[in-house]
Amino acid sequence: MKKQPIGLLDSGVGGLTVVKEVMRLLPNEEIYYVGDSARNPYGPRPLSEVLEYSIQIANFLVSKGIKLLVIACNTATVASLDVLQKRLDIPVIGVIESGTKAAISSTKNKKIGVIGTQGTIQSNEYEKQIMGLLEGAIVQSVACPQFVSIVEKNQYEDELARKVVSEELSPFVDSDMDTLVLGCTHYPLLQRIIQDYLGNDLMLINPGIEVAKQVQSILIDKAIIDTGEKASNHVFYTSGDPVKFNDIAIHWLKRHDFDVKHIAVEELEKYGK
Ligand code: DGL
Repeated sequence: MKKQPIGLLDSGVGGLTVVKEVMRLLPNEEIYYVGDSARNPYGPRPLSEVLEYSIQIANFLVSKGIKLLVIACNTATVASLDVLQKRLDIPVIGVIESGTKAAISSTKNKKIGVIGTQGTIQSNEYEKQIMGLLEGAIVQSVACPQFVSIVEKNQYEDELARKVVSEELSPFVDSDMDTLVLGCTHYPLLQRIIQDYLGNDLMLINPGIEVAKQVQSILIDKAIIDTGEKASNHVFYTSGDPVKFNDIAIHWLKRHDFDVKHIAVEELEKYGK
């Protein structure tokens, strides 16, 4: 089992922010990734639909022999974590628990901001988990519906991104929070612009870093960590445009040792139920 890949899924390129941290911490592990850009964004969809898509992708990855699944999407974590943990006989983790823990260990004044998609923010999942673990916490949650498409279109370093960030994050301008959770895996690609807008004193939480540590500890616990050679056969599937996906992946991961393949939505649908 040690040689089997780790699977990650997202609605598009966002989960690459988690892939980057997993690759950094666990260089021997082979990664199989599915980014469902053809059906992006997941954020405004009913959670029942996001669950259906997540099940399809999870089953597809299981058919590729993965030994552990990371739901590298906050919206899909809300929609499908419990179901997939019950259905699959491999370990399945999401990103919200890690984001919560990282935020709690960062905050000094217990004032925490959370940004995410409409689906994640409406579920109140971060707020529930933070309040459950940190007494007296004050959480301000804001949905940022325009961020994901800027990232998917590879415009996350453009002037437009600055404009959109300043519009969507304006509710935080007078906030005295000391920590902000990037509660959508697409958002770390906008991290520098967000930091410039809200100031350097604010701690930004990228849950991917904590997720990678969680993956490591599960692999060690179950004695399925790959102790062999550095992995170099990573495969990234996208239901969208593979050229655009490849460009973003190279730019974000700063490496080339992966293959990008197209997978049609019709193909993923065969893995439903
Ligand atoms: N990257 C995803 C998340 O973490 C979803 C983005 C979207 O498709 O709306 O929530």
